[in-house]
Amino acid sequence: MESLHTGNDSQDDKENSLKGISMAQQNIYDDDKFFESFKGLREGEINFNDLIETPILLAMMPDLKDKHILDVGCGMGQHAMQYIEMGASCVLGTDISEKMLGYARENNTADNIRYVRLPFEELDKIDESFDVVTSSLAFDYAEDLCDVLKKINNLLIPGGKLVFSISNPISTAYDGVYDRYTRTEDGVRLYANLHNYNIEGLRKFKWVVEGYEVYHRRFWTIVNNIVSAGFIIEECQESQLSEEIIRKYPDRFDGLYHHPDFIFFRCSKKTN
Ligand SMILES: C[S@@+](CC[C@H](N)C(=O)[O-])C[C@H]1O[C@@H](n2cnc3c(N)ncnc32)[C@H](O)[C@@H]1O
Repeated sequence: MESLHTGNDSQDDKENSLKGISMAQQNIYDDDKFFESFKGLREGEINFNDLIETPILLAMMPDLKDKHILDVGCGMGQHAMQYIEMGASCVLGTDISEKMLGYARENNTADNIRYVRLPFEELDKIDESFDVVTSSLAFDYAEDLCDVLKKINNLLIPGGKLVFSISNPISTAYDGVYDRYTRTEDGVRLYANLHNYNIEGLRKFKWVVEGYEVYHRRFWTIVNNIVSAGFIIEECQESQLSEEIIRKYPDRFDGLYHHPDFIFFRCSKKTN
C-alpha cells in the first residue's frame, strides 16, 4: 500500500484532501455553521472537554517524556500542545477536517507538532511508528471501530499504549425525540432514559445542530473491539464530576449525576 509522507506542508494537505471521503465517513466539522458553533463551545470557559474529559484522559496517560505520539482526530490541537508540555518529543495530529486542522495550525503550533489531514479509516497509510496513540472523542464517528483500532495497533511499537475517550454507550442510547430525562413537574431531572440500548448503529439527535450523527455501540462491543484489535485493557474510567467542578458550578452539570457522558480506556499492545 502507498504510504503517507506525514510532513506538515500545504502540498501534503492538498494531496490528502483530494483523496476524498468515503460513504461511511462524515465530515460535519467542515460545515461552516457546525464548525463555528463547535468552536464557540470548545473555546468557552465552561466546556465539557476542558472541565470533564481532558483531566481524566491526561491522568490516564503513561509517562510521555521523550515519547513519539499520534493524536487521532486531533481537532483544534489543544491536546497536541498538552502532550508536548507533558514532555513528548513530537506529536503527529491527524484529522479529517480542514477547518479543525486550520485552527490547530494557527493556534496550537510548535516545532515538534505536525498536523496532517487523514481520516482514521486510512491510518494504515502512515509509515512511522509511535510509543503512544491517543484519541479524544473522535471514535464516535467510526463505523468500524475494530478496524480503526487494528490500524492503530499496527502503528504502535511493541508494548506501546493507546489511551482514548469515546462517548459513553449510556449517552449514545438516545434518539433525540424523547427527553433524555424523566423529570418532575418542575422540570427537575429524576432519571436518565435509555432508548434502544441494545440496538447498535447510527443515531441522530440534536447536538450543536439538528441531525448530528454518531455511532452507538454497547459497552461489551467496545470492549470486544479493543481486545479483537490486539490490545490488553489496563484501565477503564467513566466521566464523573470532581468535587471542584461541583463546588464551582453547582447546577451546571447536574444531568451528569444520572449518567456518564464519556468512557475512557488505557490499553497496551499485546505482544505474543
Ligand atoms: C469532538 S471533536 C474532538 C477533537 C479533539 N480531539 C478534542 O478533543 O478537542 C471530534 C474530531 O474527530 C474528527 N473526525 C471525525 N471523523 C473523523 C475521521 N473519519 N477521521 C479522522 N478524524 C475524524 C473531527 O473532524 C473532529 O475534529
